[in-house]
Formats: sequence, structure tokens, C-alpha cells
Amino acid sequence: MIGRLNHIAIAVPDLAAAADKYRHQLGADVGPPQALPEHGVTVVFVEVGNTKVELLEPLGAASPIAAFLEKNPAGGMHHICFEVPDIAVAMAEMRQSGARVLGDGTPRLGAHGNPVIFLHPKDFDGTLIELEQVASSGS
Ligand code: CO
Repeated sequence: MIGRLNHIAIAVPDLAAAADKYRHQLGADVGPPQALPEHGVTVVFVEVGNTKVELLEPLGAASPIAAFLEKNPAGGMHHICFEVPDIAVAMAEMRQSGARVLGDGTPRLGAHGNPVIFLHPKDFDGTLIELEQVASSGS
């Protein structure tokens, strides 16, 4: 069902410092910071050819990554995102298989403006998985 790896998200305590490391130490193509108040994060996308790295910094008091950074103050891998061709089909298949879909059970618009869902990390070996509907994704 899943297609390409769309991005790997890394929660960071200092977005400017992290973006600087990717740009200057690793020599990557780093985009500008984007504030996403509805998601409680500011993001920077790093283009690496075959996928993207999404650097996440908390935005606002109710940020969903604040607790993660409390447990991992130096930062760390937060989730991985796979592309799916149809988010409603993916959600139904996940539920049927017994995986827990986080949130209120309706897809939300992700950082790229596409509908996304998140799957409970306890159902996937301790890894938070995001599924993003991407029209061109192979099924
Ligand atoms: Co993501």
C-alpha cells in the first residue's frame, strides 16, 4: 500500500542552528522556515534528492512535539512519512488491520497541503508513522 518515503522528520530544540548545520556542514539544499500554527510547529525542509528531511521546532504552548523534546532534549527522529495514493482507503485499511489512527480519525492537512494521518507508534515498533496522500504515489 505505501509508496515512496516522503520525508523523515526530526524534532530539534533550535531550528535555526539545525538548518545551519544541514546547510553548511552537510551542504544540503535547505528551505526557509515555515510557521504552521495549526500544527504547533515551525518547519524547515531539507531536500536530499530521493527524499526530504523535515526539521521541526515547537511553535506555541500546545505544540505536539513539546513533550517529545522534553524526553529528548537534544532532539531526535520524530516520525517517518510514506506516500499513499488515497488517504481514506489507507485509513480504512489501517483500522481494519488493527492499527490505531491518532487524532479524531479524520485526515488533516499536512505541511505540504495534502491530507495526512498518523499511526500509533506502539503499533509500528516504536516509530510514529505519517501517511500522506500524494496523487502521483504508486500503490
Ligand atoms: Co511529517
